[in-house]
Formats: sequence, C-alpha cells, structure tokens
Amino acid sequence: MMKDLKTLYQDPQAVKSYWENSTEARLAGEERQRFVSQQLYNFIWRTTVDAFIERAELKRQPDAHLLDVGCGWGRVIVGLKQHLPTLRVVGMDLTERLLHLAEDIVPSETGMNDVRFVRGNAQYLPFADASFDAVISTRVLQYVQDPVAAVAEFHRVLRPGGRAVVFLPNKWNPYLRLKYHTKLYSPLEVKGWFEAVGLRRVRAASIRLVPGWRRVGAHIMLPIEKALQRVPVINYTGGLVAVQGLKEV
Ligand SMILES: C[S@@+](CC[C@H](N)C(=O)[O-])C[C@H]1O[C@@H](n2cnc3c(N)ncnc32)[C@H](O)[C@@H]1O
Repeated sequence: MMKDLKTLYQDPQAVKSYWENSTEARLAGEERQRFVSQQLYNFIWRTTVDAFIERAELKRQPDAHLLDVGCGWGRVIVGLKQHLPTLRVVGMDLTERLLHLAEDIVPSETGMNDVRFVRGNAQYLPFADASFDAVISTRVLQYVQDPVAAVAEFHRVLRPGGRAVVFLPNKWNPYLRLKYHTKLYSPLEVKGWFEAVGLRRVRAASIRLVPGWRRVGAHIMLPIEKALQRVPVINYTGGLVAVQGLKEV
C-alpha cells in the first residue's frame, strides 16, 4: 500500500486494496447501521443527490437507465431511487466488499430490489456501447489512473442525447487544498476531459459551497447552497467539482 494517498491513483492494485480494507468496507452490525444513518439524509447527501437529478435532467426521464460509476455502498443510489423510484439503476464499483454492502443497504433503505450491482473498473466499463441514458459518478475519478480514459468510457456507453455528470474533490476549494488526502482536479481540468472525448454542451462549476453543519437543518442550508451555485467565480470553489456534458445525437 502506498503511504502517500495523493499518488494512490497511479497504482490500480493499491487503490483496490485501499478500498477493500477501508473502514466502510469492513463495517458490520450496529456499527454499520450507525455509519449509514450518519451518511444518509443529511444536507451533504441531499446536495449531491439533488445536483445529480438536476444536472442529468432525470425528472424529465424518470425511467431512465442510469449507471453510477464507483457507487460504493450505494449512498447516492438510495437518494435517487427515493426521489425517482422508476429509474433503472446499475451501480458499478471496483470493490466487491462495498458492492455487497450496497446489495443490503439499497433495498433496506428504499424498499426496492431492482438495482443491479456489477463489479468493474471505470476505465474499462463492462457494458455495451450506447446502453445508458445517464452516467453519473461522484468522488471516484481522483482514484483512477487515467481519468480521461474513464470519461471516454462514459461517452461510449451513453446513448446519443444521454448525459454524463461527474463530481470530484475540487482543487480550487481552499480548505481541500490544505487538507484533502487524494489527488485534486479543478473544474476547468475536468471540463477539458469532457471536451477531449467529444462530449458537447459541457458545463463546469462546483457544488458543496456550504459546509455540512449537522445542527443547521437542510431546509436552511439547501437554499443558501443553491444561491451560491449561481454566483460567478464563487461557483468554482465548492468542495466538489461538478461537470456535465451531452453525447451528441
Ligand atoms: C470516496 S468513495 C465514493 C463512493 C460513492 N460514489 C459515494 O460518493 O458515496 C470512492 C469509490 O470509488 C471506487 N473506485 C476507485 N477506483 C475505481 C475504479 N477504477 N473503478 C470503479 N470504482 C472505483 C472505490 O471502490 C470506492 O467505492
């Protein structure tokens, strides 16, 4: 295992073993329940789920076939299925242990059994061309050796007219720059990846402009977050880069 997590992305085996041995992959019983209830239904979770729904335009296509690349234990999928129960979702991840957790957590939180989980690598998606209406991914591409190759795969598996939406830790967020443990990218770097693989109408900004204070309710924080997302310059500095693009028809 590499000691410096900022270079982890250079070695796919090290990434795999980091996640296979991560705290969340090992959780069981009450400890797992506690972790899951801390991670779901809070302001940060709501911001991420809302932003995917909005940026992938999922309300206009509530039965879309959607791929979540690097779904982990299914945090985002729980929110998407609760908002849009008819979405046809495939969750894919490199880490088998996390997928096993997702197979338990998603049905128990949503009461639905129709999400399919598949093991795979973002750089070599195990799906046919043009098989999804939307491809989403959050906090994953910073661990991938060649993120442009991964975005090219997102483009390949999208049907024409489909949307790719990627979030990942933001190099232009002052706090993350000091503190965050993995490689960081800027909104303009990620926009460049989207354009390089032929995605169109690419828009780059960021989300998570407001900290996730537990004591202040999501009903207060969400409108502030949404307002800041519209302020030029500031909207590049949130905790997660947010880039979206369209596959040409
Ligand atoms: C920080 S977690 C994010 C999980 C989830 N997207 C979320 O936000 O809750 C990073 C995830 O990326 C996955 N991952 C890392 N490299 C990957 C790759 N090359 N292909 C697919 N998944 C990968 C890890 O297994 C882990 O589940």
